[in-house]
Amino acid sequence: MKLYSVLLATLLLNLFFFSCANSTSENTPPVETGNSVETVLSMLTDTRTTQYFTNDNVPEGDIIQILNAGKSATSGMNSQPWHFGVILNQSMIQRIAATPSSGPAGPPPGAPASAAFPKAGFKNAPAAIAIACTENNDFSAGLATQNMIVAATALGYGTKIVRGGADILNSEENRALLQVPAQMKTIMILIIGQVDPSIDVTADGATGPSPRKSLEEVATIVK
Ligand SMILES: Cc1cc2nc3c(=O)[nH]c(=O)nc-3n(C[C@H](O)[C@H](O)[C@H](O)COP(=O)(O)O)c2cc1C
Repeated sequence: MKLYSVLLATLLLNLFFFSCANSTSENTPPVETGNSVETVLSMLTDTRTTQYFTNDNVPEGDIIQILNAGKSATSGMNSQPWHFGVILNQSMIQRIAATPSSGPAGPPPGAPASAAFPKAGFKNAPAAIAIACTENNDFSAGLATQNMIVAATALGYGTKIVRGGADILNSEENRALLQVPAQMKTIMILIIGQVDPSIDVTADGATGPSPRKSLEEVATIVK
């Protein structure tokens, strides 16, 4: 899985660097001039969930690149059991998120959060991609989501996955809006936007970058 992720990310990054000269994106970061393998590896090990976004819109051209990465993911039997419903209109996102039955728009109950700096939820999304899939295909949809996270990161965006808000996106009205196929259900929302650097995420100790377990704890190498 790790090898696959690295290879795929390398391909994405190469495509990204290749296309930079013609890019029209306002958000395209400066081209990295370092070793691309190191860049990809550090992107995979160092990227963390973005908790605070600016209000800047995400241009549709960038979203298309991100969606292309998502739809290119591998899936069981190549079933491609997903649908991506994109909402770029922040007023629409706020209107939908404000629907009473939408459930928590922020962190799930019990999750660490700062009262002073509430973390971003669906309602704060500059752009939102509703990840829908058929039953029991969450794993494949997860791979597509990771592809989109890698692509968004390469384009200079921050991302956050949230469950809160998915329920309301499964209402009849919103399914029709997003044209979710009949046999699919939105399981997660991928928030994409510019990182807001004005908030010190380490200020309260709860919203800082999350640590990871050691390799020894999560992996076994049998020699
Ligand atoms: C499947 C999944 C569901 C998540 N759901 C939520 C959520 O509903 N609310 C939230 O605030 N964060 C949610 N997150 C973000 C995680 O809490 C976050 O990725 C985790 O704490 C690790 O943080 P890091 O990415 O900064 O290391 C979710 C992440 C994943 C992968």
